[in-house]
Amino acid sequence: MRILSGIQPSGVLHIGNYFGMMRPAIALQDEGEALYFIANYHALTSLRDPQILRQNSRRVALDFLACGLDPNKASLFLQSDVPQVTELAWILSTLTPVSRLELAHSYKDKVARGVPPSAGLFTYPVLMAADILIYDSDVVPVGKDQKQHIEITRDIATRLNDNYGPVLKLPEPRIHARTEVVPGVDGQKMSKSYGNTIDIFGQEKETRKRIMSIVTDSTPVDAPKDPENSTIVQLYGLVASPVELQEMRERFRAGGIGYGEFKKELLDKLWEFFAPMRERREQIQADARYVDEVLARGAERANNISRPVIDRVRAAVGLTGRGT
Ligand code: TYM
Repeated sequence: MRILSGIQPSGVLHIGNYFGMMRPAIALQDEGEALYFIANYHALTSLRDPQILRQNSRRVALDFLACGLDPNKASLFLQSDVPQVTELAWILSTLTPVSRLELAHSYKDKVARGVPPSAGLFTYPVLMAADILIYDSDVVPVGKDQKQHIEITRDIATRLNDNYGPVLKLPEPRIHARTEVVPGVDGQKMSKSYGNTIDIFGQEKETRKRIMSIVTDSTPVDAPKDPENSTIVQLYGLVASPVELQEMRERFRAGGIGYGEFKKELLDKLWEFFAPMRERREQIQADARYVDEVLARGAERANNISRPVIDRVRAAVGLTGRGT
């Protein structure tokens, strides 16, 4: 089984990225051949500062390694170190109906949030399809917001196969129900562009501020509270044990404790949860060359896998091979 996923270096990683994609991806490194990349071509659609793009890309690699990606099991690389992907994206774009892209919600969402509506942003799902198909991927661990992109990927691959024969493998998304949408401090999906994130490796003071700003209703301290729709409870469930979560739910229902108290408990658990990763991050940072070496090895592996696939596609569509 080949597992593939990508993450954009458009900002600092948050716990939505961690629980939605990084943790499942790290767990899968023991189940098959895993390939994870930093989607820097994709990030160009929203990030126009070269220095920041470089910095963020390295930082995402560092964070992913700190969170448990094992470079002896999984390959980690920069998307742009595998140029075959842009060639495949072009070929796929010739088979992709504009009407299919017009239905993509991420394009509409991003434009609504002020991202410039470039051709690159519009054809973003085609590049993502190429990312997945260039490695003959079987499984793609992602959060729910990426589900439509995987459907588009399967659709484009089917169109190519229908026209040219069985060339591309159809991938399956892997989305975990419990973490498919991690809420941000305002209760909406956690997202950098909503300004509602809790960062994985944020400073303690900033993390406290973020957690204390979680939006709650105005139920008084003494009154019973509803744990079902509480962002505090949802986030607590990600970092606490099932017993601890059950206890918090019961204390919500019992009343007598204010939201501020529950937020402090969430902060403590969250801080403790990521403590080993913070420590690992410091160790990795102490070795200046480690991240670059990991990325170079990952790129080599990714190129070795993708070259035969692009050759297969080139031949199938008639760019290479002998005419009759
Ligand atoms: P990106 O960089 O926005 O997010 C990276 C991963 O984190 C997940 N995620 C979440 N999951 C649950 N709750 C949240 N609040 C949350 N926020 C983010 C995302 O679902 C994603 O899995 N287009 C992709 C990057 C990409 C890619 C690919 C992914 C490019 N090519 C090929 C898979 C395969 C993106 O922008 O993810």
